[in-house]
Amino acid sequence: MKITVIGAGNVGATCANVIAHKALANQIVLVDVKEGLAEGKALDMWQTASVNIFDTRITGVTNNYEATSDSGIIVITSGVPRKPGMSRDDLISINAKIVKDVTEKAIRYSPEAIIIVVSNPLDVMTYAAYLASKKHHSKVFGMAGILDAARYKSFIAEELNTSPRDVQALLLGGHGDTMVPLPRYTSVSGIPVSQLLAQEKIDQIVQKTRQGGGDLVKLIGTSAWYAPGAAVALMVEAIVHDQHRIFSICAHVNGEYGIRDIYLGVPVKLGRSGVEEVIEIELDEDEKQLLNDSACSVRRLKKALDDMKLF
Ligand code: NAI
Ligand code: 2OP
Repeated sequence: MKITVIGAGNVGATCANVIAHKALANQIVLVDVKEGLAEGKALDMWQTASVNIFDTRITGVTNNYEATSDSGIIVITSGVPRKPGMSRDDLISINAKIVKDVTEKAIRYSPEAIIIVVSNPLDVMTYAAYLASKKHHSKVFGMAGILDAARYKSFIAEELNTSPRDVQALLLGGHGDTMVPLPRYTSVSGIPVSQLLAQEKIDQIVQKTRQGGGDLVKLIGTSAWYAPGAAVALMVEAIVHDQHRIFSICAHVNGEYGIRDIYLGVPVKLGRSGVEEVIEIELDEDEKQLLNDSACSVRRLKKALDDMKLF
């Protein structure tokens, strides 16, 4: 499969690199607006092929969408990341126009492609790509839940001095401070986390997860890329290998969980055709309230997108 990654910055380049290492594509095309950046990073990665032993041909282009023709998957990472003091929501005015523009250009050359959005604010940028692409919502979705759950799992594993591989967890809601990690759906090799950690510790980890992205921005001065890039590659893998995997992604909800017509983090089954189903899990009253609060904050931001009158 040919895969296009738009935006050859930190997240785009990292996810292209992981996709090549996992041999998920025979061709990757990196696209950027900055002259030479995609070409240079693609060349650098391609020159690791004999060392890291992969065959994926990686090329880079500046604004040349013809080179992306017939891609099976388009990953959109173009846009600006946040700086210290900014929230993901502050990026909407710049990134909405970029996401609309690149989606329209890319889909012209790859009308059958599945689109994975990464640019922030994620839930609303995914909605923007959905509108710009005019594709069915099962083919347009965003990456956040895998990243946020990976952070949550890493904190639990650290606390228990165990492998993150043994931690199973689910997280719902928007990719923001209102995200909803679900301790009732968290276990370590089948053992409920509530039997392993005190409630106070679990609460601290939930809070640390919510601010996980922001804490990294404070440390690095820009947002993270290793875990985001790897998380995108996991979604690509589920699609390429038609794995029917279940994890939370930013998907279109229209009635599920009593929420209508927004993109939001929910568990789905993901395979070659895209989102095969949105899975509704049982939530208690507190969890429902948290999910509704998160949906409200996504809806407020969607209103800001609507007010931009781009569509
Ligand atoms: P970055 O600044 O390193 O890379 C962004 C790239 O997009 C730059 O190279 C820039 O030249 C390019 N770009 C800008 N406009 C473009 C256009 N019209 N066409 C093609 N390329 C264009 O930023 P980074 O760290 O890679 O983050 C990218 C986006 O992903 C940000 O919006 C960030 O907030 C978001 N993000 C989302 C995550 C998630 O979980 N969904 C996780 C991490 C980052
Ligand atoms: C993150 O969570 C900023 O969305 C980005 O790292």
